[in-house]
Amino acid sequence: MDITILGIESSCDDTSAAVLRNHVLLSNVIASQAVHVKYGGVIPELASRAHQQNIIPVVDTALKEAGIAVDELDAIAFTRGPGLVGSLLVGVSFAKGLSLARRIPMVEVNHLQGHILSHLIDLPDRQLPHPDFPFLCLLVSGGHTMIVRVDSPTKLAILGTTIDDAAGEAFDKCAKVMGLPYPGGPVIDRLAKEGDPKAFHFAHPHVEGFDYSFSGLKTSFLYTLRDAVADAPDFIERNKADLCASLQTTIIEILLKQLVRAARETGIRDIAIAGGVSANSGLRDAITAEGRRRGWRTFLPELKFTTDNAAMIAMAGYYRYQLGEFASPDIAPAARLEELL
Ligand code: KG4
Ligand code: ZN
Repeated sequence: MDITILGIESSCDDTSAAVLRNHVLLSNVIASQAVHVKYGGVIPELASRAHQQNIIPVVDTALKEAGIAVDELDAIAFTRGPGLVGSLLVGVSFAKGLSLARRIPMVEVNHLQGHILSHLIDLPDRQLPHPDFPFLCLLVSGGHTMIVRVDSPTKLAILGTTIDDAAGEAFDKCAKVMGLPYPGGPVIDRLAKEGDPKAFHFAHPHVEGFDYSFSGLKTSFLYTLRDAVADAPDFIERNKADLCASLQTTIIEILLKQLVRAARETGIRDIAIAGGVSANSGLRDAITAEGRRRGWRTFLPELKFTTDNAAMIAMAGYYRYQLGEFASPDIAPAARLEELL
């Protein structure tokens, strides 16, 4: 029997709705919020208001593009967290309203699980490559950096996580001090292509096990800039490409070191990446090359599934629906991951 799921994502600054039939994506609509660019970061209050304005047109468009009427939906999947609580509230409240009004069951989704399960989505005209279970997923987003062992779509174990900043945060914060626009990750990715990755040396952490740390790198980046700018005020402008290339390469080396260790110690050879930073072209090339050397099968998400989107929420919702785990009408958002585990 076919299962049709409406996915709703509003955890940060993208309002998104998608329709999925089994594994096949019928529509995926994303309204990105330009309002934050001039502040150099997401302003939670403004994000909530923009979600409020966007949510109805976005859901409406997703249903129309999919050619699906509301009453054909088997369930509404929504991001319960982690994320900004005011942003999450808009999606959660919308899902409740639609669920109660049209008597459609709701399923809650963990945003991070959504990122990982984006690897199971297919497109109407072609199947995408799916990893076999168990696989390892390097989840790299603006708020999280972790290595997850995925035993099944609903059985996941965090093997390692960041003890301070996330990889996306390292990109965004370093971009900010160079005067680059928000979000910094894509801008650094572009500028790095013109630069020398060996021009500067930044600190690498020494962390046991599979955990990550990026605050030392951030500090060493800041000190390099501070000292250099004191001598030559136009230092950043003249060295932008080299700074970006060196920073990006260091972040990738840090990410790969623990991932290689996790693959070796678990013996797992299906390796995926997910989350906003998995759009990074340097990281995609580096994982592919590492995989070729080590006999891994590597899985890179389609670019449209790297940053926040509702398709992945619908995919995770599909599995939750099959478990029969429905959300009750008094459910509330969970800003922190710990509240969801
Ligand atoms: O997964 P995501 O859309 O939102 C969160 O759940 O956090 O990830 C956003 C992060 C931001 O830090 C952004 O700078 C980063 O993903 N990002 C990139 C690239 N595209 C997005 N970082 C590096 N290179 C990129 N091409
Ligand atoms: Zn995300």
